[in-house]
Order: sequence, then C-alpha cells, then structure tokens
Amino acid sequence: MSMWSSTNRLKYMTPTPKIALFGVLLLLLAGIAKTIEIVLFVVNQRFHILQMIDLSFVVRILFIGSVLVLLVAVLECRCRSDVRNIKHSVRQSLCDPAFGNPLHLREGEIEPSVLVMKNGQEYTVRIECMSADFEAVSDLETVISGSLKNKYSAYAVVAKEEDIAGCYVDYTIKDVVSEYGKQSLYHTINDIPCDATKVYVRDDVYIDYSRVLNSSAIVSGRSRSGKTTAIISTFLLPFLKMGRDGFGSEMIIIDPKSAELSLCPHVLSPDENGNVEHILDAIRRFNQLRIMRQRTINSACKESGVPHKWFELGMHPSILFIDEFVSIQDLFPKKASKEKPDYSLSAFQGLLRQIATQGASAGCFLILSTAEASVGTGGLESAVNNACGIRVLMKPSKEEARYLWSAEKLEVVRERRYSAGDAWFSADDGINNSVRFVKFPKLEFGEYEALSKLLTAYYADEDDAHNARSAANEHCAVPSPDDEENA
Ligand SMILES: Nc1ncnc2c1ncn2[C@@H]1O[C@H](COP(=O)(O)OP(=O)(O)O)[C@@H](O)[C@H]1O
Ligand SMILES: [Mg+2]
Repeated sequence: MSMWSSTNRLKYMTPTPKIALFGVLLLLLAGIAKTIEIVLFVVNQRFHILQMIDLSFVVRILFIGSVLVLLVAVLECRCRSDVRNIKHSVRQSLCDPAFGNPLHLREGEIEPSVLVMKNGQEYTVRIECMSADFEAVSDLETVISGSLKNKYSAYAVVAKEEDIAGCYVDYTIKDVVSEYGKQSLYHTINDIPCDATKVYVRDDVYIDYSRVLNSSAIVSGRSRSGKTTAIISTFLLPFLKMGRDGFGSEMIIIDPKSAELSLCPHVLSPDENGNVEHILDAIRRFNQLRIMRQRTINSACKESGVPHKWFELGMHPSILFIDEFVSIQDLFPKKASKEKPDYSLSAFQGLLRQIATQGASAGCFLILSTAEASVGTGGLESAVNNACGIRVLMKPSKEEARYLWSAEKLEVVRERRYSAGDAWFSADDGINNSVRFVKFPKLEFGEYEALSKLLTAYYADEDDAHNARSAANEHCAVPSPDDEENA
C-alpha cells in the first residue's frame, strides 16, 4: 500500500512519460559525456597533456541506450492494454492533485486502489479507498466518466454497485455512444427471436423470465412514446409465435380505449355501453388458469420429489396485458350492485393483486401500460407495484423516472433527446438490475396485422371447436313451442 503524495505528480502518470523521461535523461548524459570529450580534446591540443581520456564508447552506449528506452516508451504507450489504460486514467483522476482530488485525500494517507476487470463489452472499475469517506468513493460517476478520454471518450459509467460491507464500489463502464444507436430491426415476423424464458429487447439484451424475482411488468411513457409497439414486439409476438402449450396457456389482451389494438381478434375492449364485465370474466378465467397450472406444477413436484419450474414442464408464458391501465380502472363500478356482487373495481383489483404476486411461479405474467408514470407510485396498489420487477419508461425523463425508480438507481442515467421506442428499463433478473438505456425493436412490417394473424392461429383450435359447437347446435336445434305453433 502506498501513501498519497500531493507533490509527486509523476507518480500518478502512465509509465510512458516516466520511461520517456528516463530516455531523455540518458540522452542528456550522452550529451554531457560528448561535451566533456570535446572539452578534453581541446584542452589536450592546447596543453599537450599526454594522457588522453577516450569517452566515445561511453557516449555511444548512452546514446544507444537512450534511443532504446525512448523506443520502449513508444511501444509501452502503443501496446498498453485497455484494462491498464483505463486503470491509469482513473487512478490519475483520483490521485493527481491537479485533477481536483475528488476523494479529499491528505498528505500521507493511503492511496485508493483501482482494479479494472473486463467482462464482454463492459469494464468494471473497482475503487477501494480506506482513507476516504465511503460517500466520496461511491460518488465518482462523473469523475470516472470524465477521466475516460481519447480512445475511451465514448465510454461512461452505466451502473454502480456498492459492496455490502462498504469496502469498495464497482463502477460499470461501457461504450455508450455505440450503445445509443443499437436497435434490433425485424423485417418479417420470422426475425423475431422466441424463447419461453427470455424476452429479447435487442439481440444482446434480454430479460430472463427464469431468473426474474418479480415478473410483472409496468411500461410507462407519454402517448405515442412506443409503449404498445414495444409490448407487441417484445412480449406478445414472440410468445404468440410459440403457440399454445398443453396447459391451456392464454394471451389475454385488453384495450380499454378501443384503439388500434381492439381491431385485432381476441382483444377485449369495453362494449358500446362502456360495460367491462366480460373483461373481468376474462381476468377471472386467467386467474383460474394460474391456479390450475400451479396445481399441475405442485403435483409434478410431489411426484418426482424435486422442485419444477413452469418452463421445465413445457409450459409457455401466459400473458395478461392491460393497455392504458388507468382508463380501465374508471370503467369498473366503484361499488358492486346487488344483482352482480362480483362486478366491481375491488374485485378487479383483487384479481390483479393475485395474478401479479403469485402468477410468476405458474408462468402467468401481468403486463400493464400506462401513460402516467406517477401510476408507478400512486394509482397502482403497492402489492402490484412491488410485483412489477420489470420496469420500462419510454421516451424517458428524470422527472417521470423518479416515480418508477429510486434516486440512487437514477444517478447513472443521463437525459438525452429521445424518440419513440427509446427507453430506460430495469428488471430484477440479476442481469438488468440497474436502470439502463435501450432502444426497443424497429418493425418493418405491420405489427397489428402480424398480431391479428398470430392471435387467430393461437386460438384456431378454440375457434374451430366453437364453430363446430355452434354448427352442431344449429343442426340439432330442438323445435321450440313457437315453431310448432307456426307449423
Ligand atoms: N421501437 C420503435 N422504433 C421506431 N418507431 C417506433 C417504435 N415504437 C413506436 N414507434 C412509433 O411511434 C408510434 C407510436 O407508438 P405506440 O406504440 O402506439 O405508442 P403508445 O402506445 O405509447 O401511445 C408508432 O406508430 C411508431 O410509428
Ligand atoms: Mg398505445
């Protein structure tokens, strides 16, 4: 462990200037030796001192040495690994007094240790400093982002994790400029990746449903910010493409505003009188499905004696998607009537609570979209809100984001000008825990058309059965007394 010095600036520089300085020193010595040689030569000629001192060998050695050392300096600078480059830049910005001394170190105190690790496209910079206040160590986002220059100027801190014991802070840095432009582009429905447990937001960014702790999702953002499109492209189309499983999987889509979604088959909207009883029935059916699937899983576990997850039994995700969540709440009667005791806002909220909090283990997931981010804290029951481990804010601003995330989680995100489909998101799946920027996929085909086609295919068997039933009913219709009278 070495001590911090407020005067030794060279100590915190990269090896290049140190090696170069050594090379220059050798060159200087060579020069001095050469001068001495010339002086001696002149003196010798004048005074004829017989004993000659030959310094040419020393001069040559010193000169070659200095050239070699300077070459090493250039090589060192050229070949220094990214990890070491980043380490030096960060260390200098923390220790070199000319950089403002952000850790408020005093003469003789222990220096911070900087450890850089590469993982994929990202680097983790671990800062440990016993002499500094932990608060100061965990408040270095701007200092670290600012220290990354030249080749790394596109890099910035994107996540931060504090050690539980308060020993060190890990800062994750990555190239945010190239990250900013990345987006998946789907030309046809075949391009959409589908996996029972992974939701792909981008080719290299996915939410892992098998590891997510609270698996309900809230997608927030102003009107036309891309909420519905994002949910269709990342959640609905992939799971619809997989088709139904043998456990009665469902894709229930609710469009309370009777907008574009409601034109697709099997999408539920309020009827012309604003009645939503059939929607409540569908949600109740979804909850029943959840209970049945849970029973199936439980008995499979009992039989084999080992715990099973829904996807291990071959279940596909079942989705209950409520678009524009705030609008549907207003459509339910605040109080149940005597004739329909089960038709009320509280019945709806009760079902949502159950699905949100207990659905994950049966592969039944709730997705809510809302134009007002404040619903994240206000309009949503706290049980449902807490169950929303997947959080997305489209066309985000810090102002709205504070309803969805704690101030601490938002420290690392920067506001920019965003367009539709751009979002901040997080998921408590161990991969996406910190809030990050992502562009949702761009679709080169009509998403509503594709959704209609897939929904029709998804429920084709059910529709066939339904048609067969109505055909059979028509065929064997029992003549009513009226018919007899007429006849
Ligand atoms: N990922 C995206 N990439 C590019 N444009 C998008 C994206 N998502 C949405 N848009 C554009 O924004 C418009 C509004 O999207 P929509 O999903 O209807 O917003 P919201 O549901 O938030 O009102 C779409 O018609 C589309 O033109
Ligand atoms: Mg919408």
